Amino acid sequence: MSSSSRLPGFYRLDIAERRRILAALRSVDGGEFAALDAGGIDVDTADGMIENVIGTYALPLGVAVNFVVNGIDYVVPMAVEEASVVAAASNAARMVREGGGFHAELPRPLMIGQVQLTDVADSEAGKRAIGDARDELLARARELTPRLSSRGGGLVDIEVRSPGSHHPSAAGMLVVHLVVDCCDAMGANLVNSLAEGLADRLAELAGGAVGLRILSNLADRRLITVTARVPERALGLPGAGRLSDQDSGAAVVRRAIVDASLFAELDPYRAATHNKGIMNGVDAVLLATGNDWRSVEAGAHAYAAMGGQYRPLATWHEDGDDLVGTLCMPMAVGTVGGALHVHRGARLGLAMLGTRSAGQLAAVVGAAGMASNLAALRALATDGIQRGHMSLHARVVARAAGATGELIDRVASEIAALGDVKTERARAVIDRLRAEQTATSHTRPGPMPGRAIQQDSEASALADGDQSQSLTPEEVP
Ligand code: MEV
Repeated sequence: MSSSSRLPGFYRLDIAERRRILAALRSVDGGEFAALDAGGIDVDTADGMIENVIGTYALPLGVAVNFVVNGIDYVVPMAVEEASVVAAASNAARMVREGGGFHAELPRPLMIGQVQLTDVADSEAGKRAIGDARDELLARARELTPRLSSRGGGLVDIEVRSPGSHHPSAAGMLVVHLVVDCCDAMGANLVNSLAEGLADRLAELAGGAVGLRILSNLADRRLITVTARVPERALGLPGAGRLSDQDSGAAVVRRAIVDASLFAELDPYRAATHNKGIMNGVDAVLLATGNDWRSVEAGAHAYAAMGGQYRPLATWHEDGDDLVGTLCMPMAVGTVGGALHVHRGARLGLAMLGTRSAGQLAAVVGAAGMASNLAALRALATDGIQRGHMSLHARVVARAAGATGELIDRVASEIAALGDVKTERARAVIDRLRAEQTATSHTRPGPMPGRAIQQDSEASALADGDQSQSLTPEEVP
């Protein structure tokens, strides 16, 4: 089977069919998917992970399609509770695919461990002593992390800072940065062990006392940079969103996205929401692959604020007829260790990606963030976010109101068209459709006629990322 992530109609399949396709695509044993029926983790395993366990808490796990990153096709696992995140990312990835896909510069996986030293009598002498003992400290670090060192990782640099030099209460405080190559691990445990293992010697060298010993989540040595180019023809594809006549030109859409990007660059109130859209994609992939999303969140926002004003993590500009975007943010992710030891769902999520490289995972996570950002800006700059969101949210409401099987799409489509996406309205539609079904079955035996009501073509096209498709009733199975 082709390894393309371009899977038109994937959203229309039932869950068993989707699993079958993914198992074949990634050469995964189809039986593995059964673990997802219990949220990827059983209660006993959960009991061994945290304290006072009373159960497990699952989220929907989907896959975004159409992603190409550095020339490789990826089906991107996403665990998220918000309707439209997976569909929007698939849709934007389809647009970027038209321009050759996402390009990412993979970072060297460097994390910073901080050792705080207090009561240092002479800061300059302390810094010099630590600098002079560099070789000794590197050698000691190799002993502390033999397996990491044998894989080419470990402590690579030592820097000494005086962050409190202007603060009257911080006289005598030095902070040592241990720069650690974590290979394919996120690295928290490795870095914390190194910081704890070297702290006493550092304090001795500096003539001070040991304070905190912990990694920094501002992983600014582990930045992922992703670029994307969307050609004009992709931005204006029919079905990518409903544009009013006057706004239907791709050039207008492109200009509006660039203006939206500028808005975020100028205004931290907008930048926060812009970045939230990016984190919709980022966090969903992190969760699906068992990564520490709080760590990446903390790093992202600290990095966004580093220049003194909170800024967007991705920006967009025009280049001729193309829309070009760049995302740059810390990306401390791993494909070994952490929850992956124990969480079968997370292992399966990683298997869907088909990579064991933390660098490639970082690239895909960045691309997912960028795709989410592009989809949000495109929607906001044209129809507004509510229309597409509501048509997908309508499915959630239809289910909550008791719709099952084919009724879900029929009810969702109707309440979305009515602009009344509420449970009561959905219940009323369900009652009416069931009554009609009963009446029909008395006069005409057999199954209800296909999905004779057209699915909401906007939601369908969005979910698929296939902007060229508009479903007709005949095409719906
Ligand atoms: C909603 O989850 C995310 C957005 O608010 C992002 C944005 O405004 O760019 C739509």
